[in-house]
Amino acid sequence: MTKILKWSGIALAVVFMGAQIVRPEKTNPPVDTGRTLQAHAEVPPEVDAILKRACYDCHSNETKWPWYSNVAPASWFVTDHVNHGRKHLNFSDWARVSEHAEKQDAEAKLDEIIEEVKGRNMPLSSYLSLHPEAKLSDEDIKVICDWARAERERLAYESGKEMSVK
Ligand code: HEC
Repeated sequence: MTKILKWSGIALAVVFMGAQIVRPEKTNPPVDTGRTLQAHAEVPPEVDAILKRACYDCHSNETKWPWYSNVAPASWFVTDHVNHGRKHLNFSDWARVSEHAEKQDAEAKLDEIIEEVKGRNMPLSSYLSLHPEAKLSDEDIKVICDWARAERERLAYESGKEMSVK
């Protein structure tokens, strides 16, 4: 019995070490300050602070990679979350959203932010268990949603203005 345990322990260690060979690429692409959320939207400091604390690890190019992101299999999940997160929403490249379909896309993203934050789907719960500092209080949620709504209205108003000029 102890022999079986010993050999399964060794087998596990070998698999664990073998897994370290598969190292996903962790990138922090350079931030172009002209393309950030802050360059394209009005972001009050309290909103900025919440987004940076709770969202930026997965939704910006300023990810703070935790130590466990160097260890498989955690590294695979973390990189996947960051790559997916950035693809869906990247505050470092907010310009991409605005370029899509003029202002409508930014409005849709702001709507999604309200939906995800209000529904407490974001930040991801697996992330929160390791990053309790990213938890959103009821007040944080209100601040984010009020801001996103105001920003959406500002954009809608501006695109309305543009249309009447044309
Ligand atoms: C641990 C990584 C992580 C954190 C932290 C995180 N997200 Fe996400 N987010 C994701 C991933 C991954 C997706 C892609 C959809 C999915 O797989 O659920 C996503 C999707 C979204 C979407 C949907 C975008 C779309 O196009 O459908 C919104 C909006 C969003 N997140 C907002 C936020 C906000 C706001 C915060 C901070 C309060 C936040 N997220 C924190 C990983 C994260």
